[in-house]
Amino acid sequence: MKIVQVKDYNEMSEAACSLIIREIHNDPELVLGLATGSTPEGLYKKLIEKYNQEAVSFKAITSFNLDEYIGLSKDNRNSYHFYMENYLFQHIDINMQNVYVPTANSPDAEKECSAYEKLIRDNGKIDLQILGLGTNGHIGFNEPGTKFSSRTHIVNLAESTRKANARFFETIENVPTSAITMGIKTIMESREIIILVSGERKAKALARFINGEISEHFPASILKKHDNVTVIADEAAMNNLK
Ligand code: GLP
Repeated sequence: MKIVQVKDYNEMSEAACSLIIREIHNDPELVLGLATGSTPEGLYKKLIEKYNQEAVSFKAITSFNLDEYIGLSKDNRNSYHFYMENYLFQHIDINMQNVYVPTANSPDAEKECSAYEKLIRDNGKIDLQILGLGTNGHIGFNEPGTKFSSRTHIVNLAESTRKANARFFETIENVPTSAITMGIKTIMESREIIILVSGERKAKALARFINGEISEHFPASILKKHDNVTVIADEAAMNNLK
């Protein structure tokens, strides 16, 4: 696992942006795995800037999002469909036919999970997956205790996750209790993974991720077994490692 330490959130976003652009230049048909949450917002801003400067085109890429809340409509401002549209898709030349976000309101959610897995497989797997780190070690919405062998599935959100994400909602009661997420195995099959970690809020989780044992109690720990992972972390997040 490669660890890149950067000064702050801005540098983290910049470093991730450069890496993604390099990969798109190498392969304009890149299959990109995307994350939501506050962590990649800066990265998406930088990608839009680069697009506006004509330094990159997203025309031929395909994207798969990690997860989506169950129970929120696509136009709910807290849904990840809305987030992606708002923070990235509407600002770039990505072909919306090649954009995939799990449909969490499908009448048959189990079927949606296997269909999503199949779609990823049919696209030849994910070339580059972007991840954030949950304060409890979750990746995507794979909460502590999720099997490392899991594929796209439905999850009940941990109370700690609902609390952590309550800042985006009016009250904690409005935070959905379940979600659909790519599984850990799905994520691990990506050719390359970048995990972004910023701020003191993540310092404990980052220290456990880097120094702790590999265990299903801390989902991100499995990334240490992947042979192409880059952690981009800022000084505040690295604080507990010194
Ligand atoms: C959320 C998302 C994850 C995200 C993580 C961290 O619940 N499902 O994909 O990476 O938690 O969120 P944030 O970046 O807001 O700290």
